Amino acid sequence: MTTPAPAPPSPAGKRGTSGEHGGFETHLIPTEHLPGFVAERKAAYVNTMFDTIAPRYDLMNRLMTFGMDRRWRNYVVAEAAPPTGGSALDVATGTGDIAIALARRVGAAGSVIASDFSEGMMRPGPAKAERAGVGAIVRFMAADALDLPFPDATFDCVTMGFAMRNVTDIERAFREMCRVTKPGGRVVCLEVAKPGVPPVRFLHQCYFNRIVPLLGKIITGYGEAYRYLPESARNFPPPSALKTIMERADLRAVRFHRMSLGAVAVHTGTK
Ligand SMILES: C[S@@+](CC[C@H](N)C(=O)[O-])C[C@H]1O[C@@H](n2cnc3c(N)ncnc32)[C@H](O)[C@@H]1O
Repeated sequence: MTTPAPAPPSPAGKRGTSGEHGGFETHLIPTEHLPGFVAERKAAYVNTMFDTIAPRYDLMNRLMTFGMDRRWRNYVVAEAAPPTGGSALDVATGTGDIAIALARRVGAAGSVIASDFSEGMMRPGPAKAERAGVGAIVRFMAADALDLPFPDATFDCVTMGFAMRNVTDIERAFREMCRVTKPGGRVVCLEVAKPGVPPVRFLHQCYFNRIVPLLGKIITGYGEAYRYLPESARNFPPPSALKTIMERADLRAVRFHRMSLGAVAVHTGTK
């Protein structure tokens, strides 16, 4: 597995200007005040960040989401609905939780590829898959979500969890996911969202903007990553706009489902 060379820290980053969707810039994340962030090198920045937090990523996820992330990921798998014995791809898999859940679903006759561009994030994956009893079903491999190394129409379903915020071109990522999905197969995306009801939204924002970065600093020792999290979520398209992007990427029957008072949304499209 290869990992692109990390970008050297830079005191002042520049803003990117790559595109608008539905009246706001989807590819532009206002992170220029974060040390080391340079928009043109976002991929390397993200890669280095995830390599750094990888050892504590799962623990932080469980704590930060009060354990709800498991339910969200299981919902993704139910939406992806690969057949028993089928094939699935989990893009930007991180430590492999969605891939492992997919493997349980497709069973011993099936196969799951778990891909990511951060070698560090994937490192715990194979042992986790072994412990879950699906080590022979899941294969981890390095791949960029924007340039998937698979032929067209390879998988029964393709998933992505909490990574669309990090890619430099959302529509291209969906196009790639759609391209490698078999006709009739599903593409499913789990991402953070903002609760719609004002008091809940306010409390959620306080938690996300203040408590999570503090918790992230304590648990991972790398507070910047958990300051990046609310920053990256801030300019991310709301669910209705993300649906439009998926439709532009040639997905059909696109729908979304909000979970946990709207803190996350799961989008599903069919090729
Ligand atoms: C927040 S983690 C999510 C991991 C996992 N999907 C989950 O649900 O916990 C985001 C992951 O996206 C990966 N990632 C970000 N941009 C990527 C890209 N362009 N290609 C491949 N992986 C990418 C990061 O390395 C990281 O592992």
